Amino acid sequence: IPVEPFDLVIFGGTGDLARRKILPGLFRRFLSGQMPEDSRIIGAARSDIDSAGYRVMIKEAIAEFGGEEKSETKAIAKFLDRLEYVPVDARGEGGWSELAALVRSDVIRAFYFSVGPGLFGDLAERLHSYKIADRDSRIVVEKPFGRDLASAQELNETLAEHFKEDQIYRIDHYLGKETVQNLMAVRFGNVLFEPLWNNHYVDHIQITVAETVDVGGRGAYYDKSGAMRDMVQNHLMQLLCLIAMEPPSQFGADAVRDEKLKVIRALEPVEPHHIVRGQYEAGEDSKSYREHAENPRSFTESFIAMKCHISNWRWAGVPFYMRTGKAMSERVSEITVVFKDLGHSIFEEDDKRHRNILSIRLQPNEGMDLQVTIKEPGPGGMRLIDVPLDMTFAEALGDEAEDVPDAYERLIMDVIRGNQTLFMRGDEVEAAWKWTDPIIQGWEARNDVPKTYEPGSSGPEDAMLLIHRDGRKWREIKG
Ligand code: BG6
Repeated sequence: IPVEPFDLVIFGGTGDLARRKILPGLFRRFLSGQMPEDSRIIGAARSDIDSAGYRVMIKEAIAEFGGEEKSETKAIAKFLDRLEYVPVDARGEGGWSELAALVRSDVIRAFYFSVGPGLFGDLAERLHSYKIADRDSRIVVEKPFGRDLASAQELNETLAEHFKEDQIYRIDHYLGKETVQNLMAVRFGNVLFEPLWNNHYVDHIQITVAETVDVGGRGAYYDKSGAMRDMVQNHLMQLLCLIAMEPPSQFGADAVRDEKLKVIRALEPVEPHHIVRGQYEAGEDSKSYREHAENPRSFTESFIAMKCHISNWRWAGVPFYMRTGKAMSERVSEITVVFKDLGHSIFEEDDKRHRNILSIRLQPNEGMDLQVTIKEPGPGGMRLIDVPLDMTFAEALGDEAEDVPDAYERLIMDVIRGNQTLFMRGDEVEAAWKWTDPIIQGWEARNDVPKTYEPGSSGPEDAMLLIHRDGRKWREIKG
């Protein structure tokens, strides 16, 4: 779908996210011919630099984070020509008239709030009072969208003072990942899976998002957040919604988000003994979580595993096991659907338990594999074995898999196109916090102490017990 000319203003345009993700991403879309001639990107931040200084900064950022082979000098120079910069004081009046003079009213206007949520209100207010934004403009906000229900409601109310819901694009970058969208294609684009996608055929579902990185330099932020707020309330919740939702009537923003919201609302409260929190210890040459957080008495979790239930007709009785953690053995994000055993086997020689298992890998090596049962080759009668029908998308798609936009690229282009399907609606975010809040409050009230785990492992022992107790096991964390 072609993109119309735009002015994209990035508040926090000199910040980490802008330099690491947003601008290198926009550069790649520019290389793919998705930035119409007449479009501009305007950085706005506190730093007192001019447009020339900003271009130098972004040139360096692209060289560092943009992927080397793409850094063709000529193309970069052309891209940098599209960049402007205005020093703006979010809380004062400085720079706003200059910004107002620069932003055009006859193109699509989008404003990326790549700043802390504490500034959302100030920015929204001034965009309005300086008449920089109007009814057609779009604003983009990042997580964390609040730290509990009350703060998320407050943020929603603040934004709603000046912008309607159809102008607000709340980013959860997991929704921009290619394979996350593939979840919907697999479910709703094939006749094979959907008839089995319910409690008659599914034994349980696992969602794993394991990271090898530790908390490193982000300790100060992370210690106030923990895995529940940082990953579960948003990214894992979104994955859960896409895997569990009812088929929307069409692939449109509200149709999809209405169905996701129903899943969140149907989530049962989680029993405390169905949750395991973990915190990584020091390794041979790596620091412990508490050292990274510079908080020797920190009770914040860097790992969490939980068993959840969705209370509706389709999923009653099917456990959803979710886990995520830092400093784990491999970087893997994967969703696994484990189907039920056959009720009866006709093969006398075979006494093993066979199961179909569908696993969808989000990263790395995006793809799917389906475990099927076949005859073990050779004599010996009808003995059966399980083999994977493995499909790595890059292999199946060849060159076509090469120019896949990364999450941020795709999402920013969707903002310009005015497509909100892959963004969180205000009520979705609030419903997610409503489910998360009592869990976190419970830990705080009990002073819950996370279990320790070795860095480079698959989390605390108790996380294994959580699923073993039910006669099931986690899929091996394998990249
Ligand atoms: C972010 C979290 O939202 O997602 C980080 O704040 C986490 O803690 C990151 O590392 C994971 O994203 P990805 O795309 O690397 O899986």
